[in-house]
Amino acid sequence: MTATLYKVEPFDLVIFGGTGDLALRKLLPALFHRHADGQIPAASRIIGVAREKLTDDAYRAQLREVLVRKGAEPAKLDAFLAQVDYRPLDARKDDGWEAFAAYIKGQPEHVRVFYMSTSPELYVDICHRLAGHGLNGEGSRVVLEKPIGRDLASANRINDLVGEVFSESQTFRIDHYLGKETVQNLLALRFGNALFEPLWNADHIDHVQITVAETLGIGRRAGYYDHAGALRDMVQNHLLQLLCMVAMEAPASLAPDAVRDEKLKVLRSLKPIAGSGVSQFTVRGQYRAGVAEGQAVPGYAEELNGAKSDTETFVALRAEIENWRWAGVPFYLRTGKRLPQHVSEIVVAFKRVPHSIFGTKVGTLAQDKLVLRLQPDEGVKLSVNIKDPGPGGMRLRHVPLDMSFAEAFGVTQPDAYERLLLDVVRGNPTLFMRRDEVEAAWKWIDPILAGWAASGEAPRPYASGSWGPSASVALIERDGRTWHEDSE
Ligand code: BG6
Repeated sequence: MTATLYKVEPFDLVIFGGTGDLALRKLLPALFHRHADGQIPAASRIIGVAREKLTDDAYRAQLREVLVRKGAEPAKLDAFLAQVDYRPLDARKDDGWEAFAAYIKGQPEHVRVFYMSTSPELYVDICHRLAGHGLNGEGSRVVLEKPIGRDLASANRINDLVGEVFSESQTFRIDHYLGKETVQNLLALRFGNALFEPLWNADHIDHVQITVAETLGIGRRAGYYDHAGALRDMVQNHLLQLLCMVAMEAPASLAPDAVRDEKLKVLRSLKPIAGSGVSQFTVRGQYRAGVAEGQAVPGYAEELNGAKSDTETFVALRAEIENWRWAGVPFYLRTGKRLPQHVSEIVVAFKRVPHSIFGTKVGTLAQDKLVLRLQPDEGVKLSVNIKDPGPGGMRLRHVPLDMSFAEAFGVTQPDAYERLLLDVVRGNPTLFMRRDEVEAAWKWIDPILAGWAASGEAPRPYASGSWGPSASVALIERDGRTWHEDSE
């Protein structure tokens, strides 16, 4: 089965931070795949920008190595690399900007996308330099990577200053989780079927769990990560956006603002976690040495060369949404590095039947669960109670009706960045965060950060390869519930 691929208009895509981890590991491979599928017009230019003084050829060689390692077909590489250039530039120095602007202006009819894959502190300088050289005109768009800022105040500052030179409709705040196939599918499942919506509320749903677990440690990203931590890196954006997609009301249409208005309402309805609630409803941890994917791995502090750090690499929390649909339904969120499995999933657990006719106690009947797997094997699983086959009385078994997208459709899903980068070129902001969403998310996160800082406590240690501090298990078990296990 082949999908219809729509070509986009010729574009220039400039990646600031072009030699960084995100550019090399995600953005450029995503563009390569779109190119290999014939979606990128030959006149388009992809331009890496960073401070290093590299030639075009040296940059292409670096990129070739990365792509070959990722299994790119050599026959397709040359044509892609021929469209890739490199320009050394420093956001804080004038050198080279004039020539860079002339080079970009050499293609006046191209859509221009400027992707900020740098530290957020540089977004403002870069955007103002672009504007100073007349590169913020109508056909220009700027992409801001998350996290935008470190808290509400710094996010506002960045948004204000970027807003001086790029309008809101030119600004694409990316959260790549929104580009994942299963997240899109959540919209399809919820609003394309009559089956789920009547049950999608506090009358029928017992609780929701959102887990984003990684086996990797911080790797080459210590400089960034130690400054951010899991709450800013993952919860403020990815996990809250997933929560919004589960919890939002039906938008009037798929128009960008229709969807974003509904997500915003959810963010604004989150019950604040502040003061003593912070230690009650949140758990933060930091990994120690242990085993990941069968290998002995060092602890976080050792990866920082022994530097003392109170940055959390794990967060679990219990959120609530104060509105009619969700009153009293807990949303348990957890994310961490160096956990035993690489798995991201949303689990919607339904209430138990009110009475058991099977001679067993109601509480012993398993809850029906809808599990949306974002990765590694994207799909949807609905586990229900059925009769254990064969004679010998009525015994119930909890079994999944399981659909793997790869098996069902015979295709592997494109990386989220492939969809999102082309959405920017097309000028479609549906899957990007509007300024007010980012602000509402920080407003909810800030008191948690403040509570942690005020407590003076260090994050709880957990062994690499475990599911985080035991306090995270206690957080959910206190409510008489357990974290979902993949074998269920
Ligand atoms: C990024 C975070 O946004 O998402 C990383 O900065 C994290 O720390 C990554 O590893 C996870 O993305 P994915 O798509 O691999 O689940």
